[in-house]
Amino acid sequence: MPVPERGDPVVVELGPGTGPFTGEIQRRLGGRGRHLAVEINPQLAGLLGGAHPGAEIVVDSAARLPALLAERGLAAADVIVSGLPWAAFSYGHQSEVLRAVVQALAPGGAFTTFSYVHARALPPALRFRRRLSESFEEVVPGRTVWRNLPPAFVYHARRPRR
Ligand SMILES: C[S@@+](CC[C@H](N)C(=O)[O-])C[C@H]1O[C@@H](n2cnc3c(N)ncnc32)[C@H](O)[C@@H]1O
Repeated sequence: MPVPERGDPVVVELGPGTGPFTGEIQRRLGGRGRHLAVEINPQLAGLLGGAHPGAEIVVDSAARLPALLAERGLAAADVIVSGLPWAAFSYGHQSEVLRAVVQALAPGGAFTTFSYVHARALPPALRFRRRLSESFEEVVPGRTVWRNLPPAFVYHARRPRR
């Protein structure tokens, strides 16, 4: 996770779910900066808030990310970490959420998103991969984590195209 080791970065987590990355982001921040976790499911958000009082849990859609930052007086996110199920999104929802990510990310920021190995050749995942390349100048797949169930890997994207 590309959380800067210095300064007060704005880190956004999209679709944190049960929070496998929330604690790690909190640990890396060590009280610095801001950590917004945007989760659309109110039950999951409630559990997450109880477990991670240092993170700001926002019950809303990732599609509203630019507005969610603006409402908090934040100009942009330095890091966006996504656990969103991109391949399950409709064409329109995939577009609007990715557009929100590109708009919300600082020009020098980093976007990290997870993908499942078994699904990567399926049309919605291929469509998402293509769109990622259209939205960022640099997209680098990370190594496969076979221990994850199901096995997963990460795309590291930088330099959003506006
Ligand atoms: C695949 S799960 C998260 C996986 C996570 N790694 C875990 O183990 O819990 C995806 C999460 O994204 C949330 N989600 C789906 N669409 C969303 C949206 N538009 N905005 C914010 N959260 C969303 C779901 O409620 C779910 O908690």
